[in-house]
Amino acid sequence: MTAARAEPGQTLIKAEYGTLVWSEPLQGGGRAIMKMYRRRPFYDPVRRWFLPYRAEREFKVLSHLVRHGVACSEPLSWSHGHHDPHGRFELLVTREVAGATALDKLLKEPGAVTDLSPLLRLTRRMHDSGVSHGGLAPRNILVSFPVAGAPTFHIIDMSYSHIFPRGIAGTRMATFDLLDLVYRIGSHFPAQRCSAWLADYGLDASAVQKLMRGLERYRPRGHWAHLRRGETDLRAAMARLRAPRSPRDGDSRSAGPPAASGT
Ligand SMILES: Nc1ncnc2c1ncn2[C@@H]1O[C@H](COP(=O)(O)OP(=O)(O)OP(=O)(O)O)[C@@H](O)[C@H]1O
Ligand SMILES: [Mg+2]
Repeated sequence: MTAARAEPGQTLIKAEYGTLVWSEPLQGGGRAIMKMYRRRPFYDPVRRWFLPYRAEREFKVLSHLVRHGVACSEPLSWSHGHHDPHGRFELLVTREVAGATALDKLLKEPGAVTDLSPLLRLTRRMHDSGVSHGGLAPRNILVSFPVAGAPTFHIIDMSYSHIFPRGIAGTRMATFDLLDLVYRIGSHFPAQRCSAWLADYGLDASAVQKLMRGLERYRPRGHWAHLRRGETDLRAAMARLRAPRSPRDGDSRSAGPPAASGT
């Protein structure tokens, strides 16, 4: 796949200078979502002696979520290399959540999605598993509509995520995720409903009030967003230093060449 030319069966989802996302058929049925970070700098491999590849980090967080029963994009493989049209690249392959739509698109259609309590409960399960998302915006949440029953939610795009050694509910990292999410859904629903969903997440009345007040000062972008991200990175690094290394930390079970061709 290049931005201009797709192989048969491939569908382009997003083409930016540094990122290419497309879907293509999987051999055993279903489709794969291929997310390529491309045009990485020439010194990237040296940087990777000290820091893991971004695709690898996403792969590990998604694997962790799957192990903990948190609905997310199922990770299939990750890889890195060099390929002429794209230069130095990293590639993450996940299984497509069939028939799903990103929540940001649905929020623009009044009435398309009315109950976000399952999403807030899913967020709580993610936090209980020790994962901070770092970019919990509606565009990173997929919603699918089964023939019968309520809509289901999947969390995707773990590029700013961290795995902490224990649950993070009640910590600043969990609050950052909740602020990211409620700030963006808050313009589509009354404050009362958002408060009720925060209670479904598991916050008590005073914590709900505090978070809702925090929304007034909250800035989703700019310096404050960088500071929040920096604080989370630092806390995750410190938590890793303090925690005994678990066998899963080094788990790269499916690390290997891309599962599909066409890159
Ligand atoms: N597993 C999946 N199943 C279905 N669609 C997916 C899946 N993963 C990603 N997508 C689609 O690809 C889009 C981009 O994926 P992703 O959010 O991981 O990349 P991104 O470069 O971070 O995008 P953005 O900057 O817009 O958040 C998603 O908004 C979604 O539409
Ligand atoms: Mg995204």
